[in-house]
Amino acid sequence: MAYEIVATGMAVPPRRVSNDELAQKLDTSDEWIRSHTGIGNRHIADEHTAASDLAVQAAQSALHMLVERDPSLGGSYEAAVQSLDMVVVATATPDFYGFPSTACLVQDRLGAHRAGAVDVVAGCTAFIYALETAAGMLALKDSRRRALVIGAEILSKVTNWQDRSTCVLFGDGAGAVILEKTDAPTKGQGRRGLLRSILGSDGSGGEHLILRRGGSRNPYRAGETLDLPPVIEMNGRAVYNFAVKAVTDTIDALLTEEGISVEDLAWIVPHQANARIVQAAAKRFGIPEEKFFLNIEEYANTSAASIPIALDEMNRSGKLHRGDLILMVGFGAGLTYGGNLLIW
Ligand code: UT7
Repeated sequence: MAYEIVATGMAVPPRRVSNDELAQKLDTSDEWIRSHTGIGNRHIADEHTAASDLAVQAAQSALHMLVERDPSLGGSYEAAVQSLDMVVVATATPDFYGFPSTACLVQDRLGAHRAGAVDVVAGCTAFIYALETAAGMLALKDSRRRALVIGAEILSKVTNWQDRSTCVLFGDGAGAVILEKTDAPTKGQGRRGLLRSILGSDGSGGEHLILRRGGSRNPYRAGETLDLPPVIEMNGRAVYNFAVKAVTDTIDALLTEEGISVEDLAWIVPHQANARIVQAAAKRFGIPEEKFFLNIEEYANTSAASIPIALDEMNRSGKLHRGDLILMVGFGAGLTYGGNLLIW
């Protein structure tokens, strides 16, 4: 059995905020943000939009692509929705903390009545984990064939807009893929789909990237006055060092396990946190930077959404061809890291 991505979609809020706009309210500049991160813009949701709203839009876009590509659906969007066996949402900014899961909200809004639903929490690595989670769920039951896997974030609502060292980095968005269990070979000629993955963690670094308030460790107390909602606290330098090592180690391990070299890869699709992290990893391997797909200039860091947004942009712009070997690699809060190797 092969586990193939057969459709993609994405959604970002219409409001686009440039570095210059941030610099009007904050002691920062377009020059500093671009030179330290590669970010030029980010898309920011309005106050009424939650993660599930973007997730549903991205999912609908992927489902419309599925209708076009799968003749057995007879052109029916409704048939595509009813073909879903699982909805898996990777998010660090769910509509509600704890429950109901964002996946259940998406399942209900889509009307995917046959589907199970679950959220995956692994910081910015969550989409890498979610793909593997979904493939495992499809593998364990014959009748499960299709999973909708989404990365969706509204980071702007957990951002401290007074803290220039973090607020310039993040954006809102969602990306979705439809993962299908097929009869394609996974070995030899014509092999397709997910080949292998690496999933790792180092919980000792949890303090370096944390949403400290609101959970069972630091619940809000009656009568307490809050100056800020729960916001991202980050030790940027520590996360940067972890990220460069995580990206290089993960690429190295996936190539070694598969017995291939970097020249065999059509694309590396990294989590879009900082273009300098990618440049450092490229330098260490002697990989041309063009092999890494980067769209951080437009969207900033959208956490769990960044890799599926990149996949959809690549897919729709004709950058992905059947048979291409693609390596996705992520890192983030937890601390977590991981990568998937797949044949498109
Ligand atoms: O998805 C995973 C999430 N996070 C990451 O991947 C983040 C990883 N870390 C990074 O990307 C980088 O560490 C940052 C982009 C966050 C920071 O870059 P840096 O080169 O490590 O800068 P720094 O924190 O060492 O700060 C250098 C200077 C400081 O000024 P002084 O103390 O040298 O005078 C900061 O106050 O830059 C200052 N600074 C800024 N200046 C203008 C920090 N943020 C800004 C800003 N605008 N937005």
